[in-house]
Amino acid sequence: MGRTKIYIRAPFSETCLSELRKFFEVVYEPWTMNGERFYEDEMLDHLLRVRPDALITELDRVTAKVLTGYPKLRLIGDCRAMPANIDIAACTAAKVPVLCTPARNAQAVAEMLVGLLLAMMRNLIPSVQWVKDGKWVAGATPYYLWMGSELNNKKVGFVGFGAVGRAAAKLLDAFGCDISFYDPFVELYDSRYRKRALEEVFSECDIVSIHLPVTEATRGLVSEKLLRSMKKNAVFANTARSAVVDYAALKKILEEKRIRGAILDVLDTEPPSPEDLEIGRFPNVILTPHICGATYEVTDHQSEIMTKRIKQWLSGEGLEQIVYNRGVLNG
Ligand SMILES: NC(=O)c1ccc[n+]([C@@H]2O[C@H](COP(=O)([O-])OP(=O)(O)OC[C@H]3O[C@@H](n4cnc5c(N)ncnc54)[C@H](O)[C@@H]3O)[C@@H](O)[C@H]2O)c1
Repeated sequence: MGRTKIYIRAPFSETCLSELRKFFEVVYEPWTMNGERFYEDEMLDHLLRVRPDALITELDRVTAKVLTGYPKLRLIGDCRAMPANIDIAACTAAKVPVLCTPARNAQAVAEMLVGLLLAMMRNLIPSVQWVKDGKWVAGATPYYLWMGSELNNKKVGFVGFGAVGRAAAKLLDAFGCDISFYDPFVELYDSRYRKRALEEVFSECDIVSIHLPVTEATRGLVSEKLLRSMKKNAVFANTARSAVVDYAALKKILEEKRIRGAILDVLDTEPPSPEDLEIGRFPNVILTPHICGATYEVTDHQSEIMTKRIKQWLSGEGLEQIVYNRGVLNG
């Protein structure tokens, strides 16, 4: 590609910016500078202003209109595990390869999941509120009122055992959890983790944690039948995507107190509609505003993964391993 211009709209570490400057003229204008992503027309306007050969983005919308209006792009890097902000079919049609950053926030989600599990199992949120509300007075017995459960020896089942599931399993292994997973695409790679049928994960685990991408096969996969088969005291967690879970059924089950509770980081509408927010008001639910993957360190992780992939792309080696829309590599 030679010394060409790269327009970086994703937050990037100084170290990796310096590395990329060895190969490119870098224009660094991360979306955090003005606090907002570019939608279609704005993205096109800025490409026409900067006139780069390559774009690294994170949130901006790159559509067919953008690619047609600015046909000079030869590479797009998207600092996400899945390029949800990019029209991949349009990129493939325009023969523009797209590189992503898988696992950029796997550690962030895994750590937050463990924290949320501890919070749920130990009644952390209501007990702290109880103290703030001035209810810890003479005669109160917090030791019994807020007694919780340990993670040690609990059966934890992961549905989807990719980057996040495995990172969480590693942490929970240190708590002495009995870990199993359902993922038809993962062969057993570690004897500490057992592969199970989906139905078994739901009916036998004390904690069921969802880590699926949204695909034709996974949309609505976590059905009412599966949710109803969970153990009476089980905890359900979804930090992946709402589309893979029947939330209407989950709401009924939580209302009926058929399980101990749910940890949710994702909803059908974000920000939530009043109807969607109802589930977060249940006392047996911890609802966080889609922040499990949000850590300062993710900037370092995504910069490192993207820089490595761009260097590999420049080398021309093993492109099928890094190009998301592999169709562009054929001819
Ligand atoms: N809450 C957040 O802030 C946040 C942050 C990062 C990722 N996520 C979400 O978490 C989910 C998992 O992310 P990841 O990085 O681990 O993804 P990943 O691609 O590394 O792992 C997904 C796993 O799901 C498996 N899978 C695919 N189809 C399946 C099916 N039909 N049945 C069972 N398993 C199937 C794959 O084999 C893979 O191992 C994604 O939905 C992602 O969008 C959320």
